[in-house]
Amino acid sequence: MNILLLGSGGREHALAWKMAQSDLLSALYIAPGNAGTSEVGINVDINPNDFDAVKNFVIENKIEMVVVGPEEPLVRGIKVYFLNDPFVAHIPVIGPGKEGAMLEGSKEFAKEFMQRHNIPTARYFSVTAENIEEGYSFLDSLKAPYVLKADGLAAGKGVLILDNIDEAKKELKAMLGGKFGDAGNTVVIEEFLSGIELSVFVLTDGHAALILPEAKDYKRIGENDTGLNTGGMGAVSPVPFAGSDFMDKVKERIVHPTIEGLKEDNIPYKGFIFLGLMNVDGDPYVIEYNVRMGDPESEVVIPRIKSDLVDLFRAVASGELKSKSLDVDSRTATTVMLVSGGYPGSYEKGKEITGFDKVQNCILFHAGTKHDGEDIVTNGGRVIAVTAFGSDKNEALKVSYRNAGLIDFDKKYYRSDIGFDL
Ligand code: AMP
Ligand code: GLY
Repeated sequence: MNILLLGSGGREHALAWKMAQSDLLSALYIAPGNAGTSEVGINVDINPNDFDAVKNFVIENKIEMVVVGPEEPLVRGIKVYFLNDPFVAHIPVIGPGKEGAMLEGSKEFAKEFMQRHNIPTARYFSVTAENIEEGYSFLDSLKAPYVLKADGLAAGKGVLILDNIDEAKKELKAMLGGKFGDAGNTVVIEEFLSGIELSVFVLTDGHAALILPEAKDYKRIGENDTGLNTGGMGAVSPVPFAGSDFMDKVKERIVHPTIEGLKEDNIPYKGFIFLGLMNVDGDPYVIEYNVRMGDPESEVVIPRIKSDLVDLFRAVASGELKSKSLDVDSRTATTVMLVSGGYPGSYEKGKEITGFDKVQNCILFHAGTKHDGEDIVTNGGRVIAVTAFGSDKNEALKVSYRNAGLIDFDKKYYRSDIGFDL
């Protein structure tokens, strides 16, 4: 089977690395990919949001399946674009259609979906410039801290958590006034949930659902979860506090009603669902839906999957996922993200990366890297995720950290406390 994978981050390297191990694969292309994906497939210089270019490549290279890594092509409707074109309508696209992608593309849509299908989530109120006064009243009815979310995609920056009511009202006004562009034309105000977060991943064909290994990621730049939010600085899987009781609740209260809800609402869905959950005193609540795998969670979740991922994708496409089960490595996987100094603020690119010949017993998943002649150089804020296995979290982290020290580039930074709270 010839497969085209869209995306260029650590998540895509992990997906490509895994698919490349499948006997079912003939050729794997990654658009646009990074220096790591070029070790397991062929990079092609195509922007995943340029659907015409994607389509032409699919036709010219006899691609038989498209796997979508990031959310943007899904939210922009790559699925319906394919379905509406007679030359590629028969090519399966792994990822939801435009409506399913609204679970990530619109916080308001996601909240209404959860309310309609009795899925546990924080209480909320949805505000536009027209009913801002009602928004202020809702804020007055809540206790601090206050959670404000821009409705649309805002590159992970659209959520504000504020301790003070006056500040919350001021920010609500600023968001509705264009602080996050059109993404904030509608703002969802939420009750604050207090607990510990984790990510749970589901692969579905719209009927059956396989629950993949769960993971915990570390979003803040600084140790002890301080400082600015990033795309993710490291991850651990499995998550010790997600025991079988908790995961049974996730399955019954969240995964099952989500799949049934999509069916009831006539939303076909073939792809990943990423549940951002809060564990509140042992009960799971949905903080957010994403319609893709997580990053850096993929860099620990995908290596723990022993089953053939291409075989699972094929079953997703044909609607036969029910006949499949998941074989999971019981060991713990950890990943530590090496980032460019200055990230998530401004940083330099093009720094030579060394030490590839020194690492041992780990898997390097490239994020922001590219080839520059003979060298591999930095090409983004998040550069390389160093993944390792161990019989427990501490053993895996020891190996991730030993190797994280061996890969080097100018102004390299990483958090040395991944897993500190587990
Ligand atoms: P989101 O983009 O919806 O994942 O929100 C970003 C981050 O804000 C989450 O990862 C949580 O840490 C936090 N957050 C979002 N909603 C809530 C909530 N209702 N209560 C507490 N924390 C929240
Ligand atoms: N690690 C969080 C995300 O992928 O959105």
